[in-house]
Amino acid sequence: MTKPVRKAVFPVAGLGTRFLPATKAIPKEMLPMVDKPLLQHAVEEARAAGIEDFVFVTGAGKRAIEDHFDTDSELNRTLGARGNDEALRAVRASEIGAGRLFYTRQPTPLGLGHAVWCAREMVGDEPFAVILPDDFILAGVPCLKQMIEAYDEVGGNIVAVVDVPREQTNRYGILDVAADDGRLARVAGLVEKPRPDEAPSTLSIIGRYVLQPEVFAALGHHLQGAGGEIQLTDAMATLIGRQPFHGLRFQGTRFDCGSKIGFLEATLAHALSRPDLADHVRAMIRRYA
Ligand code: G1P
Repeated sequence: MTKPVRKAVFPVAGLGTRFLPATKAIPKEMLPMVDKPLLQHAVEEARAAGIEDFVFVTGAGKRAIEDHFDTDSELNRTLGARGNDEALRAVRASEIGAGRLFYTRQPTPLGLGHAVWCAREMVGDEPFAVILPDDFILAGVPCLKQMIEAYDEVGGNIVAVVDVPREQTNRYGILDVAADDGRLARVAGLVEKPRPDEAPSTLSIIGRYVLQPEVFAALGHHLQGAGGEIQLTDAMATLIGRQPFHGLRFQGTRFDCGSKIGFLEATLAHALSRPDLADHVRAMIRRYA
């Protein structure tokens, strides 16, 4: 029996420089994808995977995130009094229940591994998920749910993976693969952002992880890796051989919302997946194409 995954960590301390000036006064994670902030899409994916506790690793200028996931009693009362049930339902879906939401800050931007390490006391001694909200995933079964199903089969640690063109390996954590059944790849090693000619494969880590708490001990050494940053990939690599470690080729499409084009494409694909918008958007595309 595997221990259930009840907690998810959301590293959201980044500055969002690529989206300035939009991100001057609002956090990047609060940029709307149609009518929901990017971060809410990530929270809903986690919720659909059975996550109960949500840990946000924030930084300066991120207060709008706290307000967004809080209950706004005044707004709820007003919408209720006006009989605007649709808006009320939408607002209530953004709330995270009392005592289920935890905030910590990453005081200095030392890397993704350091951001996750900042959540160690809130996660404690149990398996947990990490979701990078910049990686938006459109899927029939939410990506993290697919990963938890795989975790229930094989235990240990699971990262979501996609095959990327070889010239892009220097943007991702890359798997060295021991065995591969086409769905699950058993991991022999991990390298952060290798040059294409040095990459052990083209299977790349996408921002979804199911991890065992032992990763925190490795993160606690604060070793600098690629780009001089404390890398989650390096800490995960120390678990290989001690615990099961797999990459899951999930069913779905991943969009890199860290770039403008990726964000636009994700917005378009998401809108086309919604019955309330798809026809309008298709007609709109025809007008401009
Ligand atoms: C991070 C991780 C990398 C992973 C990527 C997925 O990199 O360090 O291993 O492949 O997220 O989006 P970043 O995009 O923060 O440079």
